[in-house]
Amino acid sequence: MNTIGIGLLGAGTVGGTLIHRLVEEHAAIAAKTGLDLQVRRVAVRDPGKQRAFSIHNGVITTDALGVIDSPDVDLVVEVMGGRDPAGDLVLRALQAGKPVVTANKELIAARGSELIAAAEQSGVALLFEAAVGGGIPIIRPLSETLAGERITRVMGIVNGTTNFILTRMSEEGTAYAEALQQAQDLGFAEPDPTADVTGADAAAKAAILASLAFGTWVGLDHVPHAGITEVTAADIRYAADLGYIIKLLAIAEDTEAGVSARVHPVLLPSDHPLAAIRGATNAIFIEGPAIDELLFAGPGAGGDPTATAVLGDVIDAAREILAGAQVAPRIRFAPSELADFGTVPTKWYVRLEVADRPGVLAQIAAAFGEADVSIKSVWQEGSDDEATLLIVTHRAPESRQRDALGRVRDLDCVNAVAAAIRVESDEA
Ligand SMILES: NC(=O)c1ccc[n+]([C@@H]2O[C@H](COP(=O)([O-])OP(=O)(O)OC[C@H]3O[C@@H](n4cnc5c(N)ncnc54)[C@H](OP(=O)(O)O)[C@@H]3O)[C@@H](O)[C@H]2O)c1
Repeated sequence: MNTIGIGLLGAGTVGGTLIHRLVEEHAAIAAKTGLDLQVRRVAVRDPGKQRAFSIHNGVITTDALGVIDSPDVDLVVEVMGGRDPAGDLVLRALQAGKPVVTANKELIAARGSELIAAAEQSGVALLFEAAVGGGIPIIRPLSETLAGERITRVMGIVNGTTNFILTRMSEEGTAYAEALQQAQDLGFAEPDPTADVTGADAAAKAAILASLAFGTWVGLDHVPHAGITEVTAADIRYAADLGYIIKLLAIAEDTEAGVSARVHPVLLPSDHPLAAIRGATNAIFIEGPAIDELLFAGPGAGGDPTATAVLGDVIDAAREILAGAQVAPRIRFAPSELADFGTVPTKWYVRLEVADRPGVLAQIAAAFGEADVSIKSVWQEGSDDEATLLIVTHRAPESRQRDALGRVRDLDCVNAVAAAIRVESDEA
């Protein structure tokens, strides 16, 4: 039997489920893969905690370094999360020549380039299928199956919490705060939802998707992000009237100015494949000249789906150890131009509260014109002496769109720029 000793760093939602599966489904995994996967050491913070799995005495420890250095541990699974101490522990394992499987998007987005180089230097695998999209296979398709495609754009719903909130807001007219509360009550949102609702979690995933799609390292610093805290039920309704749905998207593109990655809410045409992704489901939409369009969708989080992704990586890494040769493809990054977001072409939906008097529309159109942004459509709803204007612009560099917004905001006839949300559609 091909025995592989596994050391885990972390045994929480993902790690605990993984251990349960490795123990309970040991025979089935062995029958399918020919591998005898043995959990040898497990590092946790609190060894006294009640666990959802049972394991031999002496396996659980608080000594994470000891897990890595243990001679009977052939491969390390990092599922403790966060940058520290996970980063240095993963580096140490790789430098010791032990393959590492991790689900940690935060760590890969922050130190992926360094860790991938360390893995390459030691000739061992660093696999992180679960880091983006939880149970959705996306890392391997991007770095392996699609390695020969000239990918042009990747757009993803990569945060289940925010998609759940936006779905509730658009389908039931729920206000943001109430939808967030529902997400927390149902366990879709953390007690502290900041990383989700500000777009920070999705930004880490956008950095990873962009790096893999375009073969150039896109650090987290190059991913501007905005979240959904300012999205209102009113804009969701207006967007629907105009034929759009509002989604929080991670967007990675190969633009004329270089590779760009960003996260923000967008108005997406309601017939776009990503528009149909409801609730906490995640989805990644990939475009390229030969494949045209691909959609990967499924559970983006949760112990079971994520553990399946981690287990797949463990099996790959174990096969690599036994083969004594490379099974997983090496991920390489070539230097490439990263686009300044200001140069990236974007389109905007702008909701203005304006004075309802003659000449206002002309002044607003002139302000957009001065910034060299042309208007695609205007929709007006008036009430007494105040009116709401919904403007959708044509595509123009982001910096010009922002310039236009500034000019409009300064107009006397504009009482408020009530909303400004980018639009993603194939039209110019
Ligand atoms: N949960 C998901 O649905 C999901 C989906 C995709 C990716 N991920 C990623 O998977 C990773 C793990 O997430 P999770 O939800 O399983 O986290 P979790 O439930 O909070 O579990 C973390 C585990 O790590 C242990 N730990 C934390 N710091 C430690 C330290 N310094 N030394 C030793 N052990 C330590 C904890 O010990 P105690 O048990 O003693 O507290 C716990 O067992 C994260 O990177 C996360 O982003 C999670």
